[in-house]
Formats: sequence, structure tokens, C-alpha cells
Amino acid sequence: MAVKRQILICGASRGLGLGLVRTFLDAGWQVHAVVRELRPASPLEALRTQHPDDLQVITCDLNRLDAASSIEAALNGQRLDCALFNAGVYGPAHQDPRQAESADIGQLFLANAVAPIRLAQQLAGHVIDGGVIACMSSQMASVELALAADMPLYGASKAALNSLLRSWQAQMPEQPWSLLALHPGWVRTDMGGDSAPLSVEQSAEGLREVITQQLGRRLCAFLDYQGNTLPW
Ligand SMILES: NC(=O)c1ccc[n+]([C@@H]2O[C@H](COP(=O)([O-])OP(=O)(O)OC[C@H]3O[C@@H](n4cnc5c(N)ncnc54)[C@H](OP(=O)(O)O)[C@@H]3O)[C@@H](O)[C@H]2O)c1
Repeated sequence: MAVKRQILICGASRGLGLGLVRTFLDAGWQVHAVVRELRPASPLEALRTQHPDDLQVITCDLNRLDAASSIEAALNGQRLDCALFNAGVYGPAHQDPRQAESADIGQLFLANAVAPIRLAQQLAGHVIDGGVIACMSSQMASVELALAADMPLYGASKAALNSLLRSWQAQMPEQPWSLLALHPGWVRTDMGGDSAPLSVEQSAEGLREVITQQLGRRLCAFLDYQGNTLPW
């Protein structure tokens, strides 16, 4: 029997993360899904019942300094084809730097930029040569496209994520994996809202294809869910 590919998906309780868990399970991957807490009777709990051999749920708050060691303990030496850091927050609803409280800004940049890159760096040793390390960014991160006028704090936090990703890549003498910043499209989730044009399934299936295509390529790229390259 062929060995199954393995993916770690961080931020998998709802929205895109949950959709990504579903689409990778449907494609025959083994999934390690990280959530802050596994809620009883939740969709993730139902998926775990349906796929007892292929879905492991790991609980931890990704912002904590010890998150990587909790995940490492749960992985128990299993090697990953892909590590996907999807969790993110919108930040204060007003999105106005003049009104922003220090604690809110700290949480926003921690959750969207520092925590995912820290985890990616700490867990990179578990990803196979030729695998993929991907962070869920946003087209709002692109300084060149300048699309974040209505959500400047959120956009800045994702730009910081992309910057940290590229700094990490620049430090590497050789890059053993593909390093990706991903834009999922505008998707109907709690964060994306009801007016978004894309369903979770459409975005997640596109992202699965993009990730699968990047296996073995060892590139650093900013890609949308259809595989188009975005300017940094
Ligand atoms: N939806 C869009 O249109 C869109 C567009 C561009 C980029 N994105 C990005 O795509 C990613 C997913 O977005 P979404 O729309 O699915 O958002 P969402 O519906 O708000 O879900 C966010 C997910 O992140 C998890 N999370 C946040 N902080 C966490 C932490 N400290 N520890 C563990 N889990 C944490 C949440 O867990 P809890 O349930 O525990 O809160 C939840 O599972 C985000 O990075 C977002 O910025 C989304």
C-alpha cells in the first residue's frame, strides 16, 4: 500500500482551516489538525470519527511560546510533506492606527506574523526534503498592489508575515522546501463574511492543488488559490 502524504494544518477549527482538513482527507492525505480546543459535536470532531486513522487533532494555542513543543510531541517523529500555518485574526474592527490599543496591535502582529513564522522555523525539521512550508497570507499583504486601504492594520500584519518569510529564506544557504505565502481568495467564512464570492470548498480545493504542485520545487513564492503569482 502506498505511503500517505502527511500535512500539518494549524488553525483548523472552522473556516478555511476546517475546509483544508476536509479537502486533504478527501485527497487521501493524513492530516494533523491543530486547534485551540476541540469542541464537542463540532465538525472537526465529526471528521475525526469518520477518519480515525487519518486525522489527528492536536490542541494548543498557536500564540504560546511552547506551541511547537506541544505539536512536536503529538507528531511523535512523523515526517510531514507539508506544514500549513493558516490561523489568523482580523484585529480591531475599526482598523484605525490612531485608535489602536497596544495590546490589540501586539495580539494582531503576534497571531498573524510572528507566531506562524516562529512555528514554521521551529517545526521545519519535521518537513521532508522537497516538502512545502506555507503560511496563509492575503493579497492585502502586497505593498505593491496596495489593496489594504480599508483594513490597514490587518494588511500590515500580513505584510509583516511575508517579510518574515522572505527574511527567513534569505538566511538559508540552501532551501530544502518550497516556502509559500498563500492568498486564499475572498472566502465566505467568519472573517471573510457572507458577501465573499468564494466558498470554503472552492478556495480549499484550489489551495490543495497549488500546494501539491509545489512539492519538490523548493521555491519561495506568493501565490493565490489558483496558482497565480502575486507581487510582494
Ligand atoms: N476569509 C478570507 O476571505 C481570507 C482572505 C485572505 C486571507 N485569509 C486568511 O486565511 C486564514 C483563515 O481565515 P478564515 O477566513 O478561515 O478565518 P476564521 O474563519 O476567522 O478562522 C480563523 C481560524 O484561526 C484560528 N486561530 C486564530 N488564532 C489562533 C490561535 N492563537 N491558536 C489556534 N488557532 C487560532 C481560529 O481558531 P478559533 O476557532 O479557536 O478562534 C480559526 O480556526 C487567516 O490567516 C486569514 O487571515 C482569509
